[in-house]
Amino acid sequence: MSAPRSRSSAAWPCCRPRPPSRSSTTKRRRRTLAADEALPLRSDEDVVRARHKVRELAQQAGLRLVDQTKFVTAVSELARNTIIHGGGGRLRAGLMQDGGRQGVFATFEDDGPGIPDIQMALTDGFSTGTGLGLGFGGARRLVNEFDARPNPTGGTVVRVATWR
Ligand SMILES: Nc1ncnc2c1ncn2[C@@H]1O[C@H](COP(=O)(O)OP(=O)(O)OP(=O)(O)O)[C@@H](O)[C@H]1O
Ligand SMILES: [Mg+2]
Repeated sequence: MSAPRSRSSAAWPCCRPRPPSRSSTTKRRRRTLAADEALPLRSDEDVVRARHKVRELAQQAGLRLVDQTKFVTAVSELARNTIIHGGGGRLRAGLMQDGGRQGVFATFEDDGPGIPDIQMALTDGFSTGTGLGLGFGGARRLVNEFDARPNPTGGTVVRVATWR
């Protein structure tokens, strides 16, 4: 089974991430609620499972349908990158709370070759593979928070989050 995937650049709405405005007081209250066990990311079926998992979480967090879909699409692209470029890895996803506000996060970790230049990798059209080079930068535009960095033990860690 293959997960749905748009190859059209028109499918990437040019929407800037909306960092939630929060004072330093509320920032201190921010906490991650329990994340479930890591899901393996090795196959197309794993991508489908990852999509279902984060769709459920995004619904639980109370995200609007459009924001659920943006988050699931970002997760799909990052899961694919973990498999294709990172040689497989793991997804951890869960809910977050900040005062009365809920959010959903997803963290992708792999033990692959790593990304030599993350800014370059985020540039639309840049690909070291056979893809269009749109997934990574597209994912960043679809979520409120995005962080990509080398995994201290090798490979790459990418974390995304969206708030209600
Ligand atoms: N987890 C990763 N490990 C190593 N390199 C990565 C990883 N994720 C992304 N990259 C690098 O970033 C580049 C850009 O990623 P992006 O998702 O935009 O494009 P793509 O996967 O090559 O093609 P597309 O997603 O459009 O099918 C990749 O070609 C790859 O070089
Ligand atoms: Mg990709």
